[in-house]
Parts: sequence; structure tokens; C-alpha cells
Amino acid sequence: MRAKVTKAIFPVAGLGTRFLPATKSVPKEIMTLVDRPLVQYAIDEARAAGIKEFIFVTSRGKGALEDYFDNAPQLEQELRRKGKTELLDLLKSTNMDSGEIAYMRQHKPLGLGHAVWCARRLIANEPFAVILPDDVVAAEKPCLAQMVEAFEEKQGNFVACMEVPEDNTGSYGILDVKEDMGTVVSTKGMIEKPAPEDAPSNLAVIGRYILTPKVLQQLNKKKTGAGGEIQLTDAIADAREGGEEVFGYRFSGHRFDCGSKAGFLQATVAFALARDDLRDDLMGYLSDVVHAPKAAQ
Ligand code: G1P
Repeated sequence: MRAKVTKAIFPVAGLGTRFLPATKSVPKEIMTLVDRPLVQYAIDEARAAGIKEFIFVTSRGKGALEDYFDNAPQLEQELRRKGKTELLDLLKSTNMDSGEIAYMRQHKPLGLGHAVWCARRLIANEPFAVILPDDVVAAEKPCLAQMVEAFEEKQGNFVACMEVPEDNTGSYGILDVKEDMGTVVSTKGMIEKPAPEDAPSNLAVIGRYILTPKVLQQLNKKKTGAGGEIQLTDAIADAREGGEEVFGYRFSGHRFDCGSKAGFLQATVAFALARDDLRDDLMGYLSDVVHAPKAAQ
């Protein structure tokens, strides 16, 4: 029988230094696009792909994340008393069932590969998804659901990918392409953050993965790579050398890099413009600003 993907790891232990001073007290994953935290987008995408168990790899100072997914009985009671049923439903839709969510601490910032390895006992011997909440993908069919479909057809490891400008390869895991079949790309290797002159292509890994337990076995070796960190990219590439297939998946949709300020602002505007209650006002404001930029200063 073909394996199903029912577990997802959300590595959220990063310090979020690019958003200081905000991230001094607020985990960056709680920062909101319009009115929903980044992490809510990630959870919704996972659910839409059939994920049933949500594993967060956290670190010191991320308590607000656990509170966010907890029930808020007092707040619910207050909204019920005031008859604010729409808000009450919205609030309840963010509650997680008992046992559905698990938190694992990454005690030292040793890299993305290490963060995923921290969740190994909860994954055991099944394929699993990894979602990096910094990467927000707006798509008609959510990105991970697209990948699960491809996985169910082919099995193997899948990484979401997209073309990036050649001088940006140093910010991503980059695929060494074996065969380009359009949506799916087979690979003969992957390199973490290569300089443009060393990059085998400009096809970059985006923060959605479906991986097999072989990758966890590779992570057990705790090999350090780019930046002196234990890289997920290296473990996936090494699983390929051990006889497993690794596919790149060119998703349809638009990816926002919400780990950067510019990307976060673009996502905020895009998600606000997609909202019936905000579109007209914001459109009017944006066109004023664009035509008379001083208005925003
Ligand atoms: C991580 C991965 C990298 C991937 C990127 C996607 O890097 O290590 O391979 O391309 O996410 O956003 P980070 O952005 O955490 O440095």
C-alpha cells in the first residue's frame, strides 16, 4: 500500500532577527498578514493537504505560539455573551484538538536540518511534510496539497521549487536537475546556498517538503554544511545518493518571502487586496500614494 502523509513539521525556532525589534517579544510566526498570523496560514495549508498531526519545533521565547493554538474559554464566553457569533466561530476555527499538536524544543540553533531531526521520534517511519511558515504561498489549490497529489502518484522526496534570479542562488537550496518534466523535475543533487558561479541551476527550493524517513537517517549523521549548520538540503541530497528519488515540484501559485521585510509588505498588500472588506479602500489609498508618493511620508 502507498504511504500517506499525515504528519507535518513546522520549524519555528528561528530568532527572527530580521524583524527586530518586533521579534524581541513576538515570535515572527505570530506576525500577522492582515489579521491572521503567519502560522495560521501554514496550519490551514497543512490541513487542506490532509495533515492530521502538527509538530512544532520551537525554542525559548516562543510561548506565544502555544498560547495561540490553545482554547481561549474566557474570550469565547465573552463573545458568546455579546452575541458576536461570527467572531466566536472565527476564534473557534483556530483551536487545535487535544493531541493534534505537539511541541518539541530545539535547544541549540544548529540549523534547519537539526530542527527537523529534533522531531524524529514523532515521525518514526512514515513520510512527512515540512512547512516553513516564512514562505507563504497564495494559490488556488494550496501548495502542499498539490505536492501531496504528486507524491501519491510517484512516492519519493518532493521539494517545492521555483526559478529565482541567478544572483540570488546564495539565499536558497538549489537543484541540480537531471530531467525537467515540466511541473516535476528529477534531480541529481542539491546544494545549499551556492554562489551564482557554483550554482547548478537557478531552480530554488521553497519552504514546502514531503520527505521520507531516509532523510531522518541522514540527519542522524549530524553532518554540518553551509554556514556551519546542519542543513536539510544536504540530508535530502544524501538520501538521493542512498538510492531515493528527489523531485522538485514547480507549484502553481505566488510565493511571498515573509522572512524579509519587502516580502512581508508585499504579502500584506496582496492578501488585503484579496479581501472584500478591504479591497476598495486600500486600492484607493494605494493609487493615491503611487501618484503622489509624498502622501506616505
Ligand atoms: C531555508 C532552506 C533553503 C530554502 C529556503 C526557502 O533557508 O535552508 O534550502 O531554499 O529555506 O525559503 P533559510 O531561508 O531558512 O535560510
